[in-house]
Amino acid sequence: MANTEGMLKEGSLKGRTIIITGGGTGLGKSMTKYFLTLGANVVISSRKIDVLKATADELMKETGGQVLAVQCDVRKYDEVEAMLAATLAKFGKVDTLVNNAAGNFISPTERLSARAFDTVVDIVLRGSYNCTLALGKHWLKEKQTDKTILSIVTTYAWTGSAFVVPSACAKAGVLAMTRSLAVEWGNRGIRLNAIAPGPFPTKGAWDRLVPGEFREKFDLKNKVPLGRVGEHQELCNLAGFLISGYSGYINGDCITIDGGEWLKGAGEFNMFSEITADQWDAIEMMVRGAKSE
Ligand code: HXC
Ligand code: NAP
Repeated sequence: MANTEGMLKEGSLKGRTIIITGGGTGLGKSMTKYFLTLGANVVISSRKIDVLKATADELMKETGGQVLAVQCDVRKYDEVEAMLAATLAKFGKVDTLVNNAAGNFISPTERLSARAFDTVVDIVLRGSYNCTLALGKHWLKEKQTDKTILSIVTTYAWTGSAFVVPSACAKAGVLAMTRSLAVEWGNRGIRLNAIAPGPFPTKGAWDRLVPGEFREKFDLKNKVPLGRVGEHQELCNLAGFLISGYSGYINGDCITIDGGEWLKGAGEFNMFSEITADQWDAIEMMVRGAKSE
C-alpha cells in the first residue's frame, strides 16, 4: 500500500457532518477532500469566502459530496455561533470539529508588537477554544454523543521553538485544552484528540516560515530522519482515523506525524548519524583504546 492512498474503508464517515476551520486551503483542504470521499458532509470556514467557495465548488465536483462554505473569523465567538447555526440549518446536525485554522510567521520575538503576538494567539488558541466551546455546549445541551474534536497542533507545542513563540504558546494551550476536556467531556460522549505534524508543504506555511531563498538554505526535509517532508494523504489518513469510530478508545492523545523530526532534535548524540562507516571504524579504535585513569 502506498502512503499516498486513502486508508479507511469506503463509507467510513458516511452520514457524518464535519466542520473544518481553515478548510479552504492547505491541509484543511486535503482533509476536506478525503472526508468527502469517505461519505461525510463537510463545512469549511475561514475569513476569505471567495477562497472557500472555490474550494467547495472544486471538491463537490471532484467527489460528488456536499460542502458548505461559511465565512467565519474564529477569533469572534458570535461568528462561530453563526457558523454552527448555518451548519445545523443545512445538515441538521454536526458530529466532528477539526480545529485546523492557524496564523503564524517567523520573527525574532523582540521584533513583535503586542498586537502581532495577539494576532497569532487569537487565531490559534482563542479560535480553537471558541469553536470547541460552541460545539461542546451544543452537544451537551442536546445530550448528543459519538462526537469528536480533533485539533491540529505541532511538535513545538511541547518542545517550544525559537522564532515562532506566539504560535508555540498557542499550540501548547490547544494541547492542554485537548487533554483537559478529554477527561471533562469523555463521560458524555465527546472525544478530543490532537495531531502534531512535522513539515507538510503548503503555500500558507511555506510562504511564512521558509520564505524566498531560505526555502533551499533551510530545507526542512533535512531535519527529518526519513529524509522527506510529509504527504498530505498521510496526515489525512491519521485524521480520518482519529475522528471516526475506529479510534473509539483513543481520547486525550496527541499523535505525532513528523518522520521522527522532533526526536532527532532532542537526542544528545543524534548528530552522529552523519558519521561514515570508515569514521566509525576509527572512532571504535579510539574508544576501545581508551585507558581508564
Ligand atoms: C512581524 C508581523 C508580521 C511579520 C504581521 N505582523 N506579519 N510582525 N513580522 N512577518 C504584525 C502586523 O504588523 C500587525 O501588528 C499584526 O502582526 C497583525 O497583522 P495583520 O497583517 O493585520 O493580521 P492579519 O491580516 O489578521 O493576518 C494574520 C497573519 C497572517 C497571521 C499575520 O500571516 C495570516 O493571515 N495567516 C493565516 C495563514 C497562516 O498563517 N498559515 C500558516 C500556518 S503554518 P501591528 O502592531 O503592526 O498592528 C503553521 C505551521 C506550524 O502554523 C508548524 C510548522 C512545522
Ligand atoms: P494554511 O493553508 O495557511 O491554513 C491556515 C488556514 O487558517 C487558512 O485556510 C486560513 O484561511 C485560516 N485562518 C487563518 N486565520 C483565520 C481566522 N481568524 N479565522 C478562520 N480561519 C482562519 O496552512 P496549513 O499548513 O494548511 O496549516 C493547517 C494547520 O496545520 C494549522 O493548524 C497549522 O498550524 C498546522 N500545521 C501545519 C504544518 C505544515 O507543515 N504545513 C505543520 C504543523 C502544523 P483565511 O486566510 O481565509 O482565514
